[in-house]
Amino acid sequence: MNKSDCLCRVCSSTISDIFDFGNMPIANNLIPVINDTYTKNEYKYNMKIGVCINCSSLQIVNVPEKELMFNNQYAYFASQSEFMKSHFEKLGNKVMQLMDKEKDYILEIGSNDGIFLKYFADKQYKHLGVDASENVVETAKKNGVNALCSFFDEETSIEINNKYGKAKIIVITNTMHHIENCQEVAKGINNILAEDGTLIIEDPYLLDMYKIGSIEQVYAEHNFIWSLHSYKTLFEKHSIKLFDVEHFDTHGGSMRYYFSKQNLNKTSTMQEYINLELNNKIFDINTFIKFQENCINISKELYNFVVSKSKEGKIIAGYGATAKSATTLNYSNIDKNLISCIYDSTPFKIGKYTPGTHIEIKDAKLFTKDSPDYTILFAWNHKKEIIEKEKNNKSKTIWVEYIPKLKLTYEN
Ligand code: TYD
Ligand code: ZN
Repeated sequence: MNKSDCLCRVCSSTISDIFDFGNMPIANNLIPVINDTYTKNEYKYNMKIGVCINCSSLQIVNVPEKELMFNNQYAYFASQSEFMKSHFEKLGNKVMQLMDKEKDYILEIGSNDGIFLKYFADKQYKHLGVDASENVVETAKKNGVNALCSFFDEETSIEINNKYGKAKIIVITNTMHHIENCQEVAKGINNILAEDGTLIIEDPYLLDMYKIGSIEQVYAEHNFIWSLHSYKTLFEKHSIKLFDVEHFDTHGGSMRYYFSKQNLNKTSTMQEYINLELNNKIFDINTFIKFQENCINISKELYNFVVSKSKEGKIIAGYGATAKSATTLNYSNIDKNLISCIYDSTPFKIGKYTPGTHIEIKDAKLFTKDSPDYTILFAWNHKKEIIEKEKNNKSKTIWVEYIPKLKLTYEN
């Protein structure tokens, strides 16, 4: 596929440049057993990301079928992190202030295992969650959350509108960047958001990704990495206007966006970030080219480190079987021959194998006993929580970080 064949899904301009990652598996498609049936038939696709310098959006240009990514084997359960629970609890309290408990309801698109809507369910607020993956919807229902298993599109928005009416609040956290057909979602939101309602979106932020040169924000599920400018371009087409933003350090740097159908005053924070994006040249093709160079450097540095320690006979493990690390591991050719295993506390992941690289995922409870010489922190976005926890468990390892640069930490 040539760059001139690709049109930006936000503004329809021709994609300005493409970075080819080669063959990649689906990042969350963990393998249940290693045998010929699974490994030979493992689905791979040629992952390419493109940038549009007209609207600044960064997007995967050849997206696999969405059913291959979001299905009843979906491996991401948001409730695994205590920090993220508290992050969403704070947002929940803020949102409740905007709602009339008797009249209003909140709609969450991409409600996952109900981590966020549970606060609303517990306090008897009217709510509805929509998620495309059956297994996480089942978990949400078990948590007492009213949830619907569906992709959110115009048709779903009409069904929801018929049954529940217009939503006072629509929340989409860490989901909008997963959705290929962003125009369809924006249309659906326009149908269902109340005239005085607020749309709140939160996901990884382009400027942070460029800043740390994070190779990992890009994988098949992360169809977009958004910015203020690209979101403005998308939603203004559908009469929805950005009026405020909040920045967080979560997931390696995230932005929370507030939109309304009304013409609300734009906050000074929003203006600051608009200027920051311009000053950091998000419309300049060279920013994207520099990012590509960074990705290649990070990958080479990690590969060389792992190979050299492996030659010394050291045991190298990983911590956090993240979807993000699928890109690093596959792009860097670091597989089960170089990494002994990856520790993780998610019951669904334990005993399975990483996509493409077939590294065993072991229960994090075994980490202290196994005591690998080096542990690559794949869940680097939960660094504080994980290192603190394992320090309390008296584990002895040398932590290896690789973003933005290779760094060893001797905590013990
Ligand atoms: P996550 O932040 O969900 O990233 P991604 O979206 O790239 O998958 O991944 C965090 C992973 O780390 C998840 O599998 C759970 C695991 N984890 C632990 O094993 N222990 C912990 O203390 C924390 C915070 C996470
Ligand atoms: Zn564009």
